[in-house]
Amino acid sequence: MATESSTDPLPRFPDGFLWGVSTSAHQIEGAAGLRERSVWDVFADLPGRIKDGSTAAVACDHYHRYREDVALLAGLGVDAYRFSVSWPRVNSPGGLDFYDRLVDELCAAGVRPVPTLFHWDLPAGLDWLERDTASRFAEYVSVVVRRLGDRVGTWLTLNEPAEHTLLGHALGTHAPGGKLLFDALPVAHHQLLAHGLAVRALRAAGAGDVGIANSHGPTWPASDRAADREAAEFYDVLLNRLFADPLLLGRYPEGVGELMPGSAERIEADLKVIAEPLDRYGVNYYAPTRVGAPQGAESEGGGVRLPAGLPFSVHPIEGRPVTDFGWPVVPEGLTELLTGLGERYGDRLPPVVITENGCSYEGLDDQDRIAYLDGHVRALHRALEAGVDVRGYFVWSLLDNFEWAEGYARRFGLVHVDFATRTRTPKASYRWFRDLVRAQR
Ligand code: BGC
Repeated sequence: MATESSTDPLPRFPDGFLWGVSTSAHQIEGAAGLRERSVWDVFADLPGRIKDGSTAAVACDHYHRYREDVALLAGLGVDAYRFSVSWPRVNSPGGLDFYDRLVDELCAAGVRPVPTLFHWDLPAGLDWLERDTASRFAEYVSVVVRRLGDRVGTWLTLNEPAEHTLLGHALGTHAPGGKLLFDALPVAHHQLLAHGLAVRALRAAGAGDVGIANSHGPTWPASDRAADREAAEFYDVLLNRLFADPLLLGRYPEGVGELMPGSAERIEADLKVIAEPLDRYGVNYYAPTRVGAPQGAESEGGGVRLPAGLPFSVHPIEGRPVTDFGWPVVPEGLTELLTGLGERYGDRLPPVVITENGCSYEGLDDQDRIAYLDGHVRALHRALEAGVDVRGYFVWSLLDNFEWAEGYARRFGLVHVDFATRTRTPKASYRWFRDLVRAQR
């Protein structure tokens, strides 16, 4: 629990449990001149969209400094590194060569490469509102797996399609900036279809270990009132079931399928593609959300802000420490969420890997981050004890990076990056995680 002292020894995880860290291409690579533009480049050029007015044109300059970053991974002693492949880079001459070099470097350092094939940086000109984007994605995935498949064993298709749909297309706070509210639902369906087609493309190329990274978090009703409970349930459908139900059960939650684009027959046929069996299920967890009935005005809580006009509102979770982002620190939410997934999906739930968990705090002596991660690792162990099959844990993130609409103002890294010089400096949390991984060997 949050109150548990971090001086107690950490519990022992099963042999073979995968310890890793995550990043994404757009947030760290830079070298924007060596790739096509993505929707995020277009978005960042619009005035006022990125809080500090920055762009990801250089970011951590990982494209040129990847050797230094792989050395940091080796120093950390992690088993695996989750990064993402930039579709706009792969579309550009020589772009795939970069991932070739990165994968070679990782293999030489004994770190397992775990690429995510889409982490929000859609090539500019493509649009998830168009069904055809799903087929284009599968073509791109075929190109990547043909090139890297001899050294990459584990693949993740999409990162957090729920956040991408909600923030990018329903609310407009992320690229491409659509404010379509519920008219954004086709974006969800097309990403799911893209996932299913990508799984088929990966299998056709012989890939044996395929998954997805979905965001999940407990949804807590603001009170016991029926109106609050109903609103929270609806929010839960959108965050926790809209993607997981079709992926794992082959159907949309009640009332949602009808809102998807195309005839019922076509959606049924698509669901067969979407529900291709997976080898692992990635879960990104940051915090729970407290949700209540609509209140006819904007609402804000736990770092989430929602406009008026939605069938729910968000509320602060009281009595908890918060990160610099304003997100509440609730480690036991991870246990609750994982046991809940186990109950909901039973033997349809593939082995779970926590593909992201982390927090934003300033400073090199980041004791708050250590406390956050310590609490979440313990909470994860409790889920294992409760019988959930969890096989790995990846910290978000290796490096401070371009935190989307927040620009460089939020620091999630185990390693500090000075954005004037791109100098990397490991934080106290880097040493803490290194010691944790060593102690688990
Ligand atoms: C995303 C990351 C992001 C992190 C912190 C996740 O939703 O996958 O790209 O940096 O959260 O906001």
